[in-house]
Amino acid sequence: DRPVYILGIETSCDETSAAVVQDGRIVLSNIIASQADIHKRFGGVVPEVASRRHVENITLTIEEALQVAGKTLDDIDAIAVTCGPGLVGALLVGVAAAKAIAFAREIPLIGVHHIAGHIYANRLVEEMQFPLLALVVSGGHTELVLMKEHNHFRILGETRDDAAGEAYDKVARALSLPYPGGPHIDRMAAEGNPSVPLPRAWLEPDSYDFSFSGLKSAVLNTLHNAAQRGETIDPVDLAASFQSSVVEVLVEKTIRAAKEFDVKQVVLAGGVAANKGLRMALQHRCEKANVPLVIPPFVLCTDNAAMIAAAGFVSYQQRKFASLDLNGTPNLPL
Ligand code: KG4
Ligand code: ZN
Repeated sequence: DRPVYILGIETSCDETSAAVVQDGRIVLSNIIASQADIHKRFGGVVPEVASRRHVENITLTIEEALQVAGKTLDDIDAIAVTCGPGLVGALLVGVAAAKAIAFAREIPLIGVHHIAGHIYANRLVEEMQFPLLALVVSGGHTELVLMKEHNHFRILGETRDDAAGEAYDKVARALSLPYPGGPHIDRMAAEGNPSVPLPRAWLEPDSYDFSFSGLKSAVLNTLHNAAQRGETIDPVDLAASFQSSVVEVLVEKTIRAAKEFDVKQVVLAGGVAANKGLRMALQHRCEKANVPLVIPPFVLCTDNAAMIAAAGFVSYQQRKFASLDLNGTPNLPL
């Protein structure tokens, strides 16, 4: 059989990315034009600025992805594009580009859910084993997802308020760290002691849901109260305490679900999967529980188009194609 080449496109938030992936497993190129430098100035992603930047970057990013892969559009079998969830103006840039190429080249168009993409980043590392449990932790999402087969997602639990990455970014902001704050807190946490008492949101005993806004408020209150008393709290210890609260709950619920559903593989996905504390704790607990764990390398954890092409390959094999009226859907369900 001749190989299948999919061009992936991702523009749901603040990275413009294009990639060429062979047979859903082999990354030939994965170009990521990050906008973090501009959004840093505003302390978060500004939707209008993001859309405009995507428009400026999309064509060059696609050309570069083809060039690095040593391919031309003649070699591409299908276009896979993130069609939601995300910022609507940002999504539309990728979707419009994908539709234009699919129409002009008369090749299939595939709409990919952003979270499916994050999960399928793991298939670029190792073949999936079902039933599979995915812990998805990003700036916009915190979900435990059970997969019994390809392209089949059951959400066991999700956040009731802030996403894990969002909590990281808000706490970082309170500590006057630059956006995005997750990596900074992660670095500080490695040096500090988790000595500041902070709550853990376990919720109902059988729940796989998460909640991080109470923890975030507790961190803000701790800082505020200390300032009022004229005391200082070592930010490094606060970072370590915050991180251990987040990681403990994420890991505990993941292991409980892995056992309940007797999964053959646990995979980690989303930007917060880059977190060293989370990676280490999950590795340790999965080893103890004897469940194989897959964690993608850092570049495949944060937003990128290779993961979108990997997810799109499954739809390609299932002949699940989108029509040219594909739209960007900000709150697309998984
Ligand atoms: O998946 P992603 O790139 O974008 C979304 O789809 O949301 O995730 C970005 C999030 C940000 O909140 C960022 O602070 C967080 O991932 N993040 C981290 C780390 N690296 C990125 N959070 C904690 N520790 C990290 N090392
Ligand atoms: Zn993402």
